[in-house]
Amino acid sequence: MDFNKAIFATTILTMMFITPSIAQSPPSPFLAPTPAPAPAPAPHHVNLTDLLSVAGPFHTFLSYLLQTQVINTFQNQANNTDQGITIFVPRDSAFAALKQSTFANLTQDQLKSLLLYHAFPKYYSLAEFKNLSSLNPVSTFAGGQYSLNLTDNMGLIRVQSQWSNPKITSSVFSTAPVAVYEVDKVLLPMQIFSTDPPLAPAPAPAPETKPSDLSPTSGNGSAPKSTQSSSPTSSSCKTHAGFASYLFFAVSGGLMLSL
Ligand SMILES: *[C@@H]1O[C@H](CO)[C@@H](O)[C@H](O)[C@H]1NC(C)=O
Ligand SMILES: *[C@@H]1O[C@H](CO)[C@@H](O)[C@H](O)[C@H]1NC(C)=O
Ligand SMILES: *[C@@H]1O[C@H](CO)[C@@H](O)[C@H](O)[C@H]1NC(C)=O
Ligand SMILES: *[C@@H]1O[C@H](CO)[C@@H](O)[C@H](O)[C@H]1NC(C)=O
Ligand SMILES: *[C@@H]1O[C@H](CO)[C@@H](O)[C@H](O)[C@H]1NC(C)=O
Ligand SMILES: *[C@@H]1O[C@H](CO)[C@@H](O)[C@H](O)[C@H]1NC(C)=O
Repeated sequence: MDFNKAIFATTILTMMFITPSIAQSPPSPFLAPTPAPAPAPAPHHVNLTDLLSVAGPFHTFLSYLLQTQVINTFQNQANNTDQGITIFVPRDSAFAALKQSTFANLTQDQLKSLLLYHAFPKYYSLAEFKNLSSLNPVSTFAGGQYSLNLTDNMGLIRVQSQWSNPKITSSVFSTAPVAVYEVDKVLLPMQIFSTDPPLAPAPAPAPETKPSDLSPTSGNGSAPKSTQSSSPTSSSCKTHAGFASYLFFAVSGGLMLSL
């Protein structure tokens, strides 16, 4: 009987921890050049707060989103499976590269617009970005005149704003209706910045080089699985399937990056 119990327990554990990641194995736009045949599963709502707190580090961007409640706008749009959302998330180091007064000087409305400027109210796969013929200029979530241009230089996709031209360095998550792409600079629209915002005086020092910053995107392809290792979110109790799959997507997204 104990033997049976043990088998049973093992089976349950296996179902809890193995099955979800298999069941949710992503129909990745990276691996599949042809559009997925759309089996129309129940919409899987991504919790953007959770996603952004485990990937990255994106703490600066996330804290601005929370502070301004723009996170709610994004989450609402993510739940709207008709259009979906595409978010360009700058790494913490991208914010650190700019003078602190750049953001401290903004009004709350300007800060909101700046954050909304980092998203399209529509889901785009990377494959669609590579097929740029008719997209530019693309209106952002901040409104009509706040637009971005996408460029593709031999597979290197850049997102062009007035004062910065960051490249997409990683796909953090990309399954309709939600796409989250990591960029290496903050987007700086002319509607908010009348001149090119100054860089921080000194190069960002030690804090950025903690182990969790050994991102899969840092070039050598040798540190692929460290994004979540020193989880700063202390939400270790949340090992449920959804959370685990975020990690899975975050890591596999990084691994698949070959731009
Ligand atoms: C996302 O998760 C956070 C905590 O992990 C929770 O506070 C928040 O309500 C969740 N948001 C949604 C839209 O489910
Ligand atoms: C998004 O959908 C989830 C799951 O259906 C729900 O819990 C959450 O409240 C929704 N959030 C918003 C902002 O609509
Ligand atoms: C921020 O405001 C101060 C005072 O108005 C000004 O001196 C400074 O140049 C501004 N910084 C930026 C980046 O606009
Ligand atoms: C790319 O463009 C072609 C021609 O406009 C179109 O047929 C194709 O579906 C597009 N592919 C994607 C991934 O959008
Ligand atoms: C996008 O491209 C158009 C046409 O080349 C240009 O007029 C516009 O200024 C560009 N926008 C940005 C944000 O670079
Ligand atoms: C990449 O790896 C090679 C060989 O392992 C090493 O010599 C080089 O310093 C590494 N470059 C970076 C940027 O880590």
